[in-house]
Amino acid sequence: MTAILTAEHVGMVFDTPDGGTVEAIRDVSFELYPGEIVALIGPSGCGKTTLFNIISGLLTPSRGSFTVNGADHGPSVGYMLQKDLLLPWRSVIDNVVLGLEVRGIAPSQSYPIAKRLIAAYGLAGFEDSKPATLSGGMRQRVAIMRTLAFDPAVVLLDEPFSALDFQTRTLLQTDVAKIIAESQKSAVLITHDIGEAITMADRVIVLSQRPSTVLRELVVDIPRDARDAVALRSDKRFNELFIEIWNDVQHKVAA
Ligand SMILES: Nc1ncnc2c1ncn2[C@@H]1O[C@H](COP(=O)(O)OP(=O)(O)OP(=O)(O)O)[C@@H](O)[C@H]1O
Ligand SMILES: [Mg+2]
Repeated sequence: MTAILTAEHVGMVFDTPDGGTVEAIRDVSFELYPGEIVALIGPSGCGKTTLFNIISGLLTPSRGSFTVNGADHGPSVGYMLQKDLLLPWRSVIDNVVLGLEVRGIAPSQSYPIAKRLIAAYGLAGFEDSKPATLSGGMRQRVAIMRTLAFDPAVVLLDEPFSALDFQTRTLLQTDVAKIIAESQKSAVLITHDIGEAITMADRVIVLSQRPSTVLRELVVDIPRDARDAVALRSDKRFNELFIEIWNDVQHKVAA
């Protein structure tokens, strides 16, 4: 199978205002295959968000290369941030159509797409509500619908649930993994939460401290239909993987 996204020896060095440099990423390579969710786990400041900015074309890497669907970067990438960043003055449906609107899609086309997504993801009846009247979990659902509305090949999720309470986060992990699978998307998930990575991802890539390199890659060999965030807590393989990744992260911190 051909990878939908390939990172080859990506490195990133930033210039600082005082004339110095910061090496954020030393050497990161990985591939994402169609239909897959890959999780990136790594310490704060190791360059994960920088990697996403490179994938989405906002930054050019200092070394190495990125290809998405055969191109350098581009419109086939949907980016969902930690903060939902919904426009507060726009209703739910007007937020969902935002990406389509920016791409010049006519309302006659964009509104039916948005309506379908809103119904499919459990927010029917809230089309005209303003974000401020929704819970944090509902807002993140709107944010993922907005990301999926323009049908990107790859979805980038940068700590999408970190601002939510434990219960909402746990429910959304299973939901969003399902949404991505059902819509036949591929995704890269940045998270600090090992349980979240195992619940949602097919593979977990552990990054070192800054400047980051790939320490390890693990395959989550638990069937997708057994990935209920709550049921997994008593799954033997889940716990083995959790400890393996935990030990990597600890080792990394000690080093
Ligand atoms: N535009 C920039 N100019 C200079 N340095 C930057 C820039 N963007 C990021 N950095 C530096 O690069 C490093 C990596 O930052 P990045 O935000 O990618 O980390 P991260 O892994 O996403 O961290 P966190 O887990 O805390 O979100 C940091 O040391 C940061 O200060
Ligand atoms: Mg970050």
